[in-house]
Amino acid sequence: MRAGALLAAAAALLAADEVPAGVVVRAGRLLADRCITCHGPERADGGIRLDRPLDLALVVTPRRPDSSHLIRLVTLGAGDALLMPPATAGPRLDAWEVELLRQWILLGADPFPAAPASR
Ligand code: HEC
Repeated sequence: MRAGALLAAAAALLAADEVPAGVVVRAGRLLADRCITCHGPERADGGIRLDRPLDLALVVTPRRPDSSHLIRLVTLGAGDALLMPPATAGPRLDAWEVELLRQWILLGADPFPAAPASR
């Protein structure tokens, strides 16, 4: 039921013309809110900056969410040391947020207009 609702919502998302840009912006906002403090201009934990396309390319396979390391990291078990964001940094991503990141990758994982400027 829940998975079905998610799929229906995802299909609805993809139905509208302007949506791909919306997915990119919202995925960028999500990463900016939950990830960039540790993986951005201030810090690059694990050696990764998620606001830089070259670093992103190491952890995302465009159009293939199931092959993308980033998706694996946000869906690990609660006790896993590599679960992102770490438990100390707030709640894990919910199903909607994971689905948003999957849609962004399915659409090609374009860089985020909403992320802090990379340098
Ligand atoms: C509180 C800080 C913090 C936040 C917030 C955070 N991370 Fe991390 N991240 C880390 C640390 C620390 C490591 C290094 C972990 C290790 O190597 O043991 C890491 C490692 C990673 C790596 C590299 C993993 C590897 O296999 O080498 C990726 C990719 C990553 N994080 C993605 C994310 C994503 C996506 C988010 C947001 C959903 C996120 N992180 C949020 C601290 C954070």
